[in-house]
Amino acid sequence: MKTFTNSILKFGLLIALLCGSAPFALADEFRMDPARVQGPDVCADCHEYNVAAWRETHHFKTFKELPSRPKAREIADKMGLKRIKQGSDCLGCHFTAKPDDSGKVKTIAGITCESCHGAGDKYVDIHSDFGGKEVTAENEPAAHRDKRWADSSAAGMIRPVDTYKVAANCYSCHTVPNEKLVNVGGHPAGSKFELVRWSQGEVRHNLHYSNGKENVEAPVERRRMLYLVGKMLDLEYAFRGLADATAKADYAVSMAKRAQRATAQLKALNGTLNNSHIAQIVALGEATKLKLNARDAYTSAAKKVSDIAKKFAADTDPASLAAVDARLPTPDKYRGKVYNP
Ligand code: HEC
Ligand code: HEC
Ligand code: HEC
Ligand code: HEC
Repeated sequence: MKTFTNSILKFGLLIALLCGSAPFALADEFRMDPARVQGPDVCADCHEYNVAAWRETHHFKTFKELPSRPKAREIADKMGLKRIKQGSDCLGCHFTAKPDDSGKVKTIAGITCESCHGAGDKYVDIHSDFGGKEVTAENEPAAHRDKRWADSSAAGMIRPVDTYKVAANCYSCHTVPNEKLVNVGGHPAGSKFELVRWSQGEVRHNLHYSNGKENVEAPVERRRMLYLVGKMLDLEYAFRGLADATAKADYAVSMAKRAQRATAQLKALNGTLNNSHIAQIVALGEATKLKLNARDAYTSAAKKVSDIAKKFAADTDPASLAAVDARLPTPDKYRGKVYNP
């Protein structure tokens, strides 16, 4: 994280020198180092089906549509921002930015492949290299495949099997962890984001492995994990949000409610599951007093929840979680329209 922030800052200074302007608050502004971003056209070379599905989502459309929405203008005015797409507090969650040929950082798209799968510069070539012209996914030696995936992850790729990581990304935007944006700008303070409901509707793009024939729903074992890891992340990111809370206003109240709701839901679920990781997280949720200006306490609680959630995601056999099935959202509840190839 530190090197990430450092490189962003250095990059900002470089841009500032080149443009003769003051560096903007880069660390908050971009989620990904713009210099590492490839852009969705690069992914489209091999993932046209995934791209076609993505183009139907709010994540894609926000790029063109956000700046002309009256509500966006209203928020920007309250925040004192002239341009929604440039140098503003909106960039980090609504847009992807990348330097153009002259080195000037520009927004190129909305929330892209790399917002969720990681900036692509270092893994694009590695993750699809089966090891030679004659080799395909079918006859690639297992050792090569394992190394290919390990190297891809080490190069910053966030794969769907990394349930915790791919899901943490959603919560880092969707809990809207920005006090000023909510209290001053009047931005919605995150909605009742639930991972199964929100990932299996319009966002679903499980198309690559069927060559674009079928946009399959995540299997029930995976939905169980997404559901529970999502609730854990809800608590973790509520704590992260509360770490920044300084005023008793909408922002703090909504984060506090999020923390209480997630804790209560996990507790109710664990009545039938009796899972020790869930029990530990519920204990953390119940032990943490809700208060303002308590950065250290919340940061430390969030870290603990995160460590347990990662272990839960890595070690739990989804077969042991069948009791959750009755609670899983049904397809009619999925958010947005599923892309149909
Ligand atoms: C040169 C072709 C190529 C490019 C460019 C490419 N990919 Fe891939 N990608 C593949 C192939 C092939 C696979 C399937 C690998 C396999 O079968 O093991 C894949 C698989 C994936 C997966 C699924 C991994 C998994 O765990 O199952 C993701 C996610 C992904 N790519 C993301 C991206 C993103 C994001 C970009 C752009 C930054 C990108 N890819 C660019 C060829 C490519
Ligand atoms: C921390 C992440 C984050 C930042 C920063 C952010 N947004 Fe958002 N915004 C979101 C998310 C997530 C949603 C979707 C909310 C939902 O449906 O849960 C959203 C939705 C919106 C909407 C639709 C709201 C509605 O009521 O329909 C508008 C308008 C908007 N944002 C404007 C802005 C503007 C303008 C800025 C910059 C001043 C900004 N946002 C900065 C995360 C963010
Ligand atoms: C909002 C976050 C998000 C965005 C944006 C996103 N992905 Fe994904 N992607 C995921 C998640 C989560 C999964 C696993 C889905 C599941 O388990 O149902 C996934 C799965 C995949 C897979 C494997 C599944 C399959 O059969 O194809 C590929 C390949 C992939 N994404 C590529 C891309 C590409 C290319 C883009 C850009 C066009 C993209 N993704 C945009 C979150 C995202
Ligand atoms: C980089 C920040 C970011 C990430 C990461 C992200 N989102 Fe979003 N998402 C947004 C914003 C911003 C919007 C609102 C866009 C708009 O309407 O202008 C949004 C909108 C959505 C919507 C449409 C909501 C509606 O209005 O109907 C869904 C569904 C959604 N996100 C699901 C997900 C899921 C699932 C993940 C993780 C796999 C995810 N998002 C990851 C920022 C993000």
